Amino acid sequence: VSAQGRHVTELETPAAVVDLDRLERNLARAATYAAQHALALHPHVKTHKTLEIAERQLAAGASGLTVAKTSEADVLVGAGLRAPLLLHYPVVGPEKVARLVALAEHGPLTVALDSLAAAEPIAAALARRGLSVDALIELDVGMRRTGVTPEGALALAEGIEALGGGLRVAGLSCYPGHLRGLDEDALAAGLGDVDAVLAAAQALLVCAGIRCERISAGSTATLLASHRTRATELRPGNYALLDRAEARGAFSDDDCALRVHTTVVSTSVPGRLVLDAGSKALSEAGPPPGSVGFGAVVGRDDIVVDRLSEEHAHAVLAPGAIPPRVGDRVEVTPNHACTCVNLHEVLYGARDGSVEVVMPVAARGAIR
Ligand SMILES: Cc1ncc(COP(=O)(O)O)c(C=O)c1O
Repeated sequence: VSAQGRHVTELETPAAVVDLDRLERNLARAATYAAQHALALHPHVKTHKTLEIAERQLAAGASGLTVAKTSEADVLVGAGLRAPLLLHYPVVGPEKVARLVALAEHGPLTVALDSLAAAEPIAAALARRGLSVDALIELDVGMRRTGVTPEGALALAEGIEALGGGLRVAGLSCYPGHLRGLDEDALAAGLGDVDAVLAAAQALLVCAGIRCERISAGSTATLLASHRTRATELRPGNYALLDRAEARGAFSDDDCALRVHTTVVSTSVPGRLVLDAGSKALSEAGPPPGSVGFGAVVGRDDIVVDRLSEEHAHAVLAPGAIPPRVGDRVEVTPNHACTCVNLHEVLYGARDGSVEVVMPVAARGAIR
C-alpha cells in the first residue's frame, strides 16, 4: 500500500519522516546565503542519500553535489542524476579508481586529494582513457583528520602537475569540522585561522603558477559564516535535515526536518517506557555536549531516552510526568541525521502531517 497521501500518524513505525516545509526552508536559506555572497553551493549528499533531496538541492540553486564514496556517486549517476560531482574522500584502491574513471566518463568530476600516493594511480588511469578530472588539494585547517599543510599543498600540487596524467589541479579544499558548538565570536576567530591557512596555500600555488580558481570549504556549523574565509564554494551536508547535534548557533530545534516516529511498546517497568526504535532506527550517536539522551523526544522534555538496545529505546520518565500508554506515538529528533538516515529504507516526505513523497534512501549503505 502506498504511503503517499496518508497521515504520518498512520505510518508503521519506526518511520523516518522529513518535514518538507522545514527541508525546503533549510535549502533556501543556504542557497540565499550562497547567492548573497557569490559562493557556489555543492551540498554533501551523505546526509540524506536520496535522489529526491539531491534534486531539490539542485533545484534550489546548488551548482554541484559532493559525495564521500564512489559508490554513493554510482547510485546518483545510475539513477540518472546529472550534476557536477565532487568526490571528497581519499580514493584509494583499484576498484575505487576504476569507479572514479567510470564516473569521469559520465560528467564533470572533481576529486579532493591529500597524497601523491592516491593521486598517481588516478592520474594514470584517467590518462589511459584520455579523461581529465579537476583535483582540489585538501588542507588540514585544524581538524587533524585529512589534509596537508600549505607547504605540503604546494608540493602535492607540483607533484600532480608533474604526473602529466589526467588530473589537473584546480584549487584547494578544507573541512573545518573542528569548529562546532561555538558562539559567534569564537566561530569568527576559528574561521580567521582557517582563512590564514587557505591564504598561505593559495599564495604558494599562485606564486608557482598553479591554478587555484576553486576553494571548497565548509560544514553546516560554519555555513552561514563562510564569507569570513576566501572559500569560493561550500559543501554543507547536515544543513538539509539538521539534527539535535547541529541545532545550535544559527540553527534551532525548529529547523530539524527529520524525526523518527515511534510507538510506545512497553510501560511495564515503573517510571520507564520503551519505544520501538533502537540503535537500528536512531543510530548509536550520542548526545551533543551539554545534553542527555539518544535523540530528543519531541514535546516531552520529561522523557529521556537514556539507553538503546538494537530494537528498544529505553526511556525514563521525569518524576510526576504523565506516562504515555502502550500504542501511543512519540516523535524523536535523532542526535545525528546522517547515521540515522543510513539505517532507513525510505524517508517519508510530509507536509502538514500528510505524506507527499516516499523517498528511497537509494545510497543507503553505499560505504565503498
Ligand atoms: C569532507 C566533508 N565535506 C563536507 C561535509 C559536510 O559537513 P556537515 O555535515 O557538517 O555539513 C563533511 C561531513 O562530514 C565532510 O566530511
